Amino acid sequence: MGKFVINGGKKLKGAVEVRGAKNDALVIFASALLTSETVHISRVPEIEDIKRMSEILDKLGVGVDRSGYGKYKITADKIKTTAIDKEIAKRLRASIVLTAPLLVRMGRVDFPHPGGCVIGERPIDVFLDGYKALGASIDYKDGAYSVRAKKLHGNKFVFGSVSVTGTESMMMAAALAQGDTILKNCACEPEVESLAEFLNSCGAKISGAGTPKITIKGVRKLSGGKHTTIPDRIEAGSFLILGSILGDPIKVKKCNPEHLDSLLNVLQKSGANIKIGKNSVEVSSSKLKSVGIKTKEYPGFPTDLQAPLCVLLTQAEGQALVHETIYEGRLNWTDELKRMGADVLTLDPHRIEIRGSKKLRGREIESPDIRAGMAYMIAALCAEGQSTIDNVYQIDRGYEKIEERLQKIGADIRRI
Ligand code: EPZ
Repeated sequence: MGKFVINGGKKLKGAVEVRGAKNDALVIFASALLTSETVHISRVPEIEDIKRMSEILDKLGVGVDRSGYGKYKITADKIKTTAIDKEIAKRLRASIVLTAPLLVRMGRVDFPHPGGCVIGERPIDVFLDGYKALGASIDYKDGAYSVRAKKLHGNKFVFGSVSVTGTESMMMAAALAQGDTILKNCACEPEVESLAEFLNSCGAKISGAGTPKITIKGVRKLSGGKHTTIPDRIEAGSFLILGSILGDPIKVKKCNPEHLDSLLNVLQKSGANIKIGKNSVEVSSSKLKSVGIKTKEYPGFPTDLQAPLCVLLTQAEGQALVHETIYEGRLNWTDELKRMGADVLTLDPHRIEIRGSKKLRGREIESPDIRAGMAYMIAALCAEGQSTIDNVYQIDRGYEKIEERLQKIGADIRRI
């Protein structure tokens, strides 16, 4: 499974370049199934989740060519099956975004309940309700769903929960449905807006993406197109949190500060030294004050940055409440953080209290998921002594060559 060995306690200095957003690239890969023409995608992060998605597409009979560093060409002119590979789907929750394109293009899709992180139950009711609203019928047998629709028709659909991939999936299904669709209570993440912009460049008629209400006029077919993945705001935010604790300074380049408002707000309130540029942010360590956070759908504080921010709170002066409103299992990772010396009081599955200015001590840790894995790396870089992080596949799922980029800014980290 691979391990990282980290000797912590060193200041970090230099520039890190942010890669393309995992959660943009994955859904654009899936959207290539909506057309039989070629889709060109650049600035794709070279990470494990992209390899898994490519493997799933390959098994569907879709041509995925890596034409250079971060550059991919996808041509879905010969889809040979509508069954999503069970084994790979269990390792990639995002595989769920393949269901809409397959359903609307082929009239059916068969898939398992998607796997992924251990951060919570991860239901898929909004997908099933949404497809039914557009005229699909659904069977469930032996842990797999089978969804069918000769032709999808437009409709009004209100999401029962704000779901990023749910919103993305319904946009893709409605893009080729007959008639108009109105989606309400949509997710407003930048990745949703990015997908709508790409689909419109291929001939779709989508308006309102990035707001809670999206209108889609179904069209008969979509052409191929070109897309450059937006910068990964979660990766950028993780480096900014690291820089607030250890930066001497760290410059986070090729990011979009516009996508980081809620994090920058918290960091500035905590007293971090931040200089915001057009597509970079420079941060250096300072005496930090504790600031409470409550995770919310975008533009609120992102749940994917909750774990890294908790590490910052262990080093800040004071105490703060962390309220994780999105996932019921996303605070479990703090048990290991406590074993490193953090003072964390668990109030309930959604709330913890962190008392700061605690020295962390290095230890052997196992990465349970992508974002907790990054948080453990940040904790290990802050801690005294040596840490070993196991199961780095989880970190490689979401961060490209992370140890090499950290070495470049002076981190004592090696992969064994
Ligand atoms: C996306 O997941 C991201 N993944 C997640 O990032 C991110 O944590 C999440 O949005 C929230 O920002 C991708 O974009 C590939 P949701 P998604 O559906 O779409 C409930 C990472 O580390 N819900 O927005 O799967 C659900 O239980 C990953 O990159 C339902 O109730 O998340 C949760 O409470 C982790 N029914 C809330 O909505 C449904 O049918 C948000 O889930 C679907 C979701």
